[in-house]
Amino acid sequence: MKVYIKRGKGFKGEICIPADKSISHRAAIIGSLASGLTQIRNFNTAADCSATLSCLQKIGVEVKENKENEVILKGKDLFGFREPEDILDAQNSGTTARLLLGLLSGQRFFSVVNGDSSLQKRPMKRVVDPLRKMGAQIEGRNDGCNLPLAVKGQNLKGIKFRLPLPSAQLKSAVILAGLLSEGKTEIEEPVPSRDHTERMLHYLEAEIEKENEVIRIQGRKEFKAQKIIIPGDFSSACYFIAAALLVEDSEVVLPDTGVNPTRIGFLKAVKRMGGNIHVHERKVICNEPLATLSVSTSELKGVEIKAEEIPALIDEIPLVALLATQAKGITEVHGASELRVKESDRIRAIVVNFQRMEIDIEEKEDGFIIEGPQRLRGAFVESFGDHRIAMAMAVAGLVAEGITEVKDFDCCGISFPNFYSLLTRWQNNG
Ligand code: S3P
Repeated sequence: MKVYIKRGKGFKGEICIPADKSISHRAAIIGSLASGLTQIRNFNTAADCSATLSCLQKIGVEVKENKENEVILKGKDLFGFREPEDILDAQNSGTTARLLLGLLSGQRFFSVVNGDSSLQKRPMKRVVDPLRKMGAQIEGRNDGCNLPLAVKGQNLKGIKFRLPLPSAQLKSAVILAGLLSEGKTEIEEPVPSRDHTERMLHYLEAEIEKENEVIRIQGRKEFKAQKIIIPGDFSSACYFIAAALLVEDSEVVLPDTGVNPTRIGFLKAVKRMGGNIHVHERKVICNEPLATLSVSTSELKGVEIKAEEIPALIDEIPLVALLATQAKGITEVHGASELRVKESDRIRAIVVNFQRMEIDIEEKEDGFIIEGPQRLRGAFVESFGDHRIAMAMAVAGLVAEGITEVKDFDCCGISFPNFYSLLTRWQNNG
């Protein structure tokens, strides 16, 4: 499916964004490991988290999707899963594949994890290496670099492991394996990445602690299920933060949005750029901070994003590029080479699409440089099958002159199925 976006008109009002994707994956996986029933409220039912639920069902987890966005599942007390009869299909979801590899490594059965053609290209060795050190038996193409991967569950042992890159998926895979291991697992995290796994396990009173840069997990300790309420997804909110900042006469309120400090690098960058964005009505639910965000149209200036800031805005960099085209001065993004191994090569996708919109952008191996403000021209752009590129380019269409056509737009369904209907609020009023 393709969509056509015309230049937007100011929108004033409230926007309700979907539940956090990262936290929904974790609620399902960690709830499955717990003892007792987990009721998850405001679960993200888009394609990625649905893939996680169906993989869990294949290893014996009873899942009930009750009323809208409510999931109830019965925990397996760490080791009560069963051997799947078929491959576990993570589809497009890196979080599903990598976190499940941690869980499956410590079970007593054989399983195979696969994914779609995008996920089959993404690096898995980063997860396979530490899991093998814990005793996991994982085999696959290129010595376990790529899906499909076959896992023969083993009796794992805790390790000391220093994270070679700030990846929450890698960290979480090792934490989950640590829960199943004999003894203690220690993970040293020199650069922080999103900490939803640690927060949720702490909320459930599992044996996990963090001291300075070290996360410690005591293995084979059961923990009890509890009700989990998922906040709104900050990454999904960012598309409408960008739309509100850039389209004249906009004023948007985003209630109950997750504002975990490891996720809000985009908010900090926007403030440095001069964006009007206010955070209020703060609260904490299930050990995750939430707030209401109010954003209005702003004059922006260029900003430098350094390598150490990247993990906290890794999924928002396509939007940083869009803001940069409209901001006065130079915006530089460095240290973001991880973007090349996301659902698409996001640096390439940003450069190709913005060049089609007549933007002068300098591509770097690990980022890009844009000097603004520049005129965005409506053009034919592509999602490259990547939900974050599709949504960022649709917002770019609101700012561009003329019509923007976004090819392969359906991939929004990975995280945000009703994205387009919310975006049309900038098209229809007035
Ligand atoms: C995620 C972690 C990040 C992020 C991805 C979701 C998670 O990936 O880009 O969209 O849920 O843990 P990495 O951990 O590979 O950096």
